[in-house]
Amino acid sequence: MEQILSKSWRIVNQRNMDVALMHGAYDSLKKIFKMTPAEVTETVKASGLRGRGGAGFSTGTKWTFIPKDNKKPVYLINNFDESEPGTFKDRAIAEKDPHMMIEGMIIASYAIGANTAYIYIRGEYYRQWEIIEKALAEAYAKGFLGKNIQGSGFHLDIFQHRGAGAYICGEETALLSSLEGGRGYPRIKPPFPAIEGAWRSPTIVNNVETLTNLPYIINNGADAFKKFGTEKSPGTKLISASGHIEKPGVYEVAMGLPIHTFLNEQLGGIWKGRKLKALVPGGSSFPVLTADEALKTNIDFESCAASGTSLGSGGFYVMDDTTCMVRMLMFTAKFYEHESCGQCTPCREGTGWVSQIVRRIEEGHGRERDLQVLLDVCNNMMNGRTICVFADALAMPVISYLTKFKHEFEDHVRLGRCPMSGKCDSAMV
Ligand SMILES: Cc1cc2nc3c(=O)[nH]c(=O)nc-3n(C[C@H](O)[C@H](O)[C@H](O)COP(=O)(O)O)c2cc1C
Ligand code: SF4
Repeated sequence: MEQILSKSWRIVNQRNMDVALMHGAYDSLKKIFKMTPAEVTETVKASGLRGRGGAGFSTGTKWTFIPKDNKKPVYLINNFDESEPGTFKDRAIAEKDPHMMIEGMIIASYAIGANTAYIYIRGEYYRQWEIIEKALAEAYAKGFLGKNIQGSGFHLDIFQHRGAGAYICGEETALLSSLEGGRGYPRIKPPFPAIEGAWRSPTIVNNVETLTNLPYIINNGADAFKKFGTEKSPGTKLISASGHIEKPGVYEVAMGLPIHTFLNEQLGGIWKGRKLKALVPGGSSFPVLTADEALKTNIDFESCAASGTSLGSGGFYVMDDTTCMVRMLMFTAKFYEHESCGQCTPCREGTGWVSQIVRRIEEGHGRERDLQVLLDVCNNMMNGRTICVFADALAMPVISYLTKFKHEFEDHVRLGRCPMSGKCDSAMV
């Protein structure tokens, strides 16, 4: 398969400007400066590109939400918080080809009329921050950033802002609060950031992978992009593959690839010759699939939704038949308990109770009524009861574990211990 994002990853020193230029970096700028911003937006809309940060919303359509009569500055934010457990693909983009990402940011900024853009980068990604700082300095030196880029009359400055280790700051409104210097608290939507974002000005927040697709779309056209993937999920997707597989890593696949093909042909199958038990295709915030469900699902937005989960950010983790699902859920719940920002009672209390009860069951002290209590708590966390969807992002997976692997929870309560003790490799997922 021809690749869009990872084609350049095998080139030695591709992060270096001179090498990147030899392989076509920044070529798309010659094209966009001959187009109007509206034409660039139309091309991206026509390509069908959908956001790769989790929600899968049409990128070009989102850009059109900037008010036409706007007099305030417009900002672009590249969301590089990447803290969803199981997701590590944006890191690969920054490490392998940061110039393609910067080029994408220039295209998006030009289209939406932003003269200032930010990269909100996960605090722990210090090495990646250094790589990007160097790439930005090279881009300024070559005249791809700063004043009057390539004689076009368009100005753009890009700044990096390091997060301080909170998962919630990946949520776009929490990100804005943090960028402005406040606590990383999500805000009620509407207003959406495109209307009222950073410093109350119109702001587009896009994921690293979303933006990195743009040079290909501009250079090759919307139709070339649509040749990859499915009708409603065009293009490719970077998948962060981990867990009980022979070959973990970051893979670029065409949307629509069946999960069973991906597992067997690219990931080398389930490790140690074991069997698939369960799989999460989109990251820890989404429902788990049983082996049967997973093997009928394809890697695209529609197929994942039809199977009751989401392609999310492509955090694909695999569990073999020795995995204790109670233990897996315990690790997941602990993370969400720790990361809740605490503003909303159903989330602050709910994540804490879920985490405590699942831990109690895992440790062999569970009670029969605990399963129903867990479902009740989760039902009170979901569907618009909180400021942001973080609470849903724990409640949905919990309900899926409890309903699809109910017998494992019941066995823990009945036996007063884990039936898998000694055989379970959950910690490796
Ligand atoms: C709890 C939570 C965490 C999120 N973390 C990220 C993240 O790390 N990176 C990201 O791009 N989007 C993340 N998102 C989604 C963003 O809010 C936003 O939808 C996305 O950055 C938009 O970019 P896109 O349209 O290119 O997908 C998160 C959402 C939630 C609710
Ligand atoms: S749902 Fe949770 S993370 Fe989101 S604002 Fe409310 S308390 Fe904070």
